[in-house]
Amino acid sequence: MGQTAIIEVADLNFASPYLIEQDWEAYTPEQHGVWQELVGRRMPQLRRHACEAYLDGFERIGLQEDHLPRLSAVSARLAPRTGWASTPVSGFLPANAFFEMLAARKFPTTTWLRSRDSMDYTPEPDIFHDVFGHVPMHAHPVFADFLEHYGKVCASVSESTAQPEALERLGRLFWFTVEFGLIRERGEIKVYGSGLVSSHGECTRVLNGGCEVKDFDVDAVMNQEMQTSEMQPVLFAVESFEQIYEAAKLAEGRV
Ligand SMILES: [Fe+2]
Repeated sequence: MGQTAIIEVADLNFASPYLIEQDWEAYTPEQHGVWQELVGRRMPQLRRHACEAYLDGFERIGLQEDHLPRLSAVSARLAPRTGWASTPVSGFLPANAFFEMLAARKFPTTTWLRSRDSMDYTPEPDIFHDVFGHVPMHAHPVFADFLEHYGKVCASVSESTAQPEALERLGRLFWFTVEFGLIRERGEIKVYGSGLVSSHGECTRVLNGGCEVKDFDVDAVMNQEMQTSEMQPVLFAVESFEQIYEAAKLAEGRV
């Protein structure tokens, strides 16, 4: 991991109004049941088609199928490995708060859970998308370094200039890696992006060849339009996570 000093939540400026406690005791048996069903529906496909780093991270952070995770326990397991934390927030964060948290190795994590009538899709991320989808990857040392560096690059861009175009281009790098990233392992396409990990429909379509898969290239990614409301027509596959770490460094010079 990088040589980053651990930054306490008290040191967060932009994000501090959005930090909350997770009231784990308030989750109902019905909600634990929804979590169990969501995890149970995804794992058979993921055991076969998720990348090794995701499956390894799932075990390392101690996620359980039968109940919702305690974020403090997840963070306690991540801390000695990569220094990342899964930090509860009240909902959608403004860009400067979001980047500040990534730069401090704190992943903004929602605590609400979708209900049974929206099992397949929620317009805003919930704890299933955030923890099941994202957090296992934070146990991977190179991915962990990448995400922190990405946050630092974006934080400096959003502070020093008011360039919506630059942030849009950087947003595409996040989208095509953290949210919808693919990796080739022993000649097979595997998923690591949270939008694929947490969505059975989108993941199945991609694995069935329903979208074009291009080799990862930082310039191609930063020039590729995102489809935020429809299925993805184009995605990018890396050969290793070093590629996205390098891309975050290169991105600084590309905006
Ligand atoms: Fe996400």
